[in-house]
Amino acid sequence: MCGIVGYLGHRLAVDVLIEGLKRLEYRGYDSAGIAVLDPEPVTVFRCKGRIADLEAKIAGDRPDAHAGLGHTRWATHGRPSEENAHPHRVEHTVVVHNGIIENHLELRQQLIADGATFSSETDSEIFAHLIARELSGNDPSPEQLFEAVRNILPRVDGSYALGVLHGSCPGALVFARHGSPLILGIGEGELFAASDIPAILNYTREMVILEDGDIALLQHDGLTITDGDGAAVTRKPLRIAWDPVLAEKGGYPHFMLKEIHEQPRAISDTLAGRVALDRGEVFFESDLIPSGILDNVRQVVMVACGTSFHAGLTAAYEFERHLRVPTRVEFASEYRYREPIIDEHTLVVAISQSGETADTLAAVELARSRGAYVVAVCNVLESSIARAAHAVAYTHAGPEISVASTKAFVTQLVTLHLLLLYLDQQVHRLDGALRRRWLTALSHLPTAVAELIEDCEPVIKRMARRYAHARDMLYLGRDVHYPLAMEGALKLKEISYMHAEAYPAGEMKHGPIALVDADVPVLFVVHDSPVRSKVIANIEEIRAREGRVIALTLPGDEEVAEVADDRIEVPSVDPLVDAVLLAVPLQLFAYYVAVHLGTDVDQPRNLAKSVTVE
Ligand code: F6R
Repeated sequence: MCGIVGYLGHRLAVDVLIEGLKRLEYRGYDSAGIAVLDPEPVTVFRCKGRIADLEAKIAGDRPDAHAGLGHTRWATHGRPSEENAHPHRVEHTVVVHNGIIENHLELRQQLIADGATFSSETDSEIFAHLIARELSGNDPSPEQLFEAVRNILPRVDGSYALGVLHGSCPGALVFARHGSPLILGIGEGELFAASDIPAILNYTREMVILEDGDIALLQHDGLTITDGDGAAVTRKPLRIAWDPVLAEKGGYPHFMLKEIHEQPRAISDTLAGRVALDRGEVFFESDLIPSGILDNVRQVVMVACGTSFHAGLTAAYEFERHLRVPTRVEFASEYRYREPIIDEHTLVVAISQSGETADTLAAVELARSRGAYVVAVCNVLESSIARAAHAVAYTHAGPEISVASTKAFVTQLVTLHLLLLYLDQQVHRLDGALRRRWLTALSHLPTAVAELIEDCEPVIKRMARRYAHARDMLYLGRDVHYPLAMEGALKLKEISYMHAEAYPAGEMKHGPIALVDADVPVLFVVHDSPVRSKVIANIEEIRAREGRVIALTLPGDEEVAEVADDRIEVPSVDPLVDAVLLAVPLQLFAYYVAVHLGTDVDQPRNLAKSVTVE
């Protein structure tokens, strides 16, 4: 949610900032801006719209500056407009901010009473006023600018990743983090800052992940990090192994399609080094759950949002069925406020691609404070949720740029399967043959997904054209196929804006069937499952109301063929893991409907990739 980039070095700052913002555009894209330190002493460019609009605005006037800040915005306070775009400037103080200032009304009133004039509706501008006042019009040294930032932070409640520069202080940038991600990059004689790794991965792989409460001063001769009291802290640089090419479109028209096609490799990476097929054993990089913890566990609670929530729902069927432990899945945004019963008998599994989702992070903190043991399933290395949990199982999907999550979802499913089998090594509910069967099935997934994409993509592309102009769609399934239906409906609505709802197929006759007519296509997930025949009966109910049926089904299922108008055939690897395969055609269907409708697939309206505000 909003993206920040900072640069201090020898390159043309405009180029580094624009390049970085393009890679962060998935975080927010309603307005953008940059500020560069040059002899002016500071030049700010801002505009409503995309980074391309900003680039066009700057095109003829690229200042010869080598330090600056950039920002791409997802509006929270104040509509998308040039005035509300960051950077915000008060005299020579310039700020970019990601997050929310919770006491902004109070601070704004105090500042106005003190003579400040605001030029935007944003909460972020408050930072610029507070720092400018703290400097009292003086030209600060880098250390004084740093101190001014440190001094005003205790007045601000809320979350921030903050970047600050000052026109009279050309060799310094200051950054502060509290509740919104911020990383620093260390290059040869140059320093970078960004909200997310891909923004600067082209320039350096040496990164420092700032922690909450950290304040950093970047200067040509190095980097200083302190806590809020000014005491120096050491943050060990990490070497990021991600290939920068993964963050490029690589010839695909959209990141989403590229990421769908990356799924076989992503699943291989999730499994790599974690499975001993012959012994039926699973390992993670570290000991996820020390022995003894599970002896006390009476319930598993998965917390997540959006697509990650659907991964949890899908896995929860298997957790309860096979581990025989009560397993619930909760929207993190609800869980954190409803005074849930959590204690040391609860194992919490927090699922998040970004590892920065504010609600999921808050749910993790709540669970820990009540004594629960928390395992995170995250994609982004060293993200806030990964660090807030007791242990983390990384999904290793690689950078996911498209706002609609695809490869993150399937790798979450695979990681959750591994986690189940790992937990079973302590609770011993499954027999050895079943464990080996399960792991063998998982190991076949990369090839099976690759073959499925090849076979079903042309079919789905043609089919999507026929359904692209429907007003609404329903997605139905039972058992694990129900959360998959939810995921299919979410994908469709978020990128094509077509209204889509998912229900457990058995719920239709309790109300939603009233929606069905010839204009509402119904997609059924009707695959290998003990409830297959019940779902076929549900299809008949839809047909009796003239509904058009698309079935995601096994090849050669004649019974389904007789009742469905269209079929997408998905060969089974093993019912234990087929959910991973079934996700793929649902992603492709949503993708091609959106392409036919001409929407902005990678950056759908009103959305942002990483939801770091409540
Ligand atoms: C949907 C989507 C979102 C995210 C949700 C949680 O395609 O991407 O629904 O799944 O915002 O994000 P993470 O997994 O980063 O916590």
